Amino acid sequence: MKFFLDTANIAEIEEAASWGVLSGVTTNPTLYAREGGKLADFHGHLKRICDIVDGPVSGETVGLTRDEIIREGVELAALAPNLIVKVPTMPEGLAATKALFDMGIKVNMTLCFTVPQAILAARSGAAYVSPFVGRFDDISEDGIDQLEQVVIALDNYDFGHDVEVIAASIRSANHVTKAALMGADIATVPFSVLKNLVKHPLTDRGLESFLADWEKVKNA
Ligand code: E4P
Repeated sequence: MKFFLDTANIAEIEEAASWGVLSGVTTNPTLYAREGGKLADFHGHLKRICDIVDGPVSGETVGLTRDEIIREGVELAALAPNLIVKVPTMPEGLAATKALFDMGIKVNMTLCFTVPQAILAARSGAAYVSPFVGRFDDISEDGIDQLEQVVIALDNYDFGHDVEVIAASIRSANHVTKAALMGADIATVPFSVLKNLVKHPLTDRGLESFLADWEKVKNA
């Protein structure tokens, strides 16, 4: 499994990159707004992220018609070679994805919840499909079960191009564990979740005991 960071925060991206575990970044309008982002700097901000990250960086389109999405997608893709155009799952999104695919521009199809949506996304040319886990849990459905169904279904077919599943809307280490066990290609996680993935109480306790014993060695 590869780890993407689900953030628009530059410091978080730099920190995760320094750990050597960062394979990509996903952003969305909510995450950019959370950073106090301004429209005038949207492209500049994405470009800065692309310069830091050695891997795909998803920048989301906000248009609702195919023409708007294609125009935004072409502008975003021109920012950097590792910029992936993030497009919502909807008919106009599929049409735009097909057009962008024909131009050689990679799409991450987002807001995907079901197997049919995922297959349609892959069929339209999406290089990445992002099933949302946490938002399914939010409505008392089993987001992990839905993700597993998408992973299995996409694995059944050859779409004629590479398709990777990004487990998105990830809220916990348990989500990541389950996604890894089912073979999801990528998990995109908030920095708070990434930090938790490194930790375990027994690791902390082991470290404390090593340090205490090392003090004894030093004083012996
Ligand atoms: C990533 O591509 C998605 O936009 C993100 O994971 C959504 O997460 P959320 O459901 O926590 O907003």
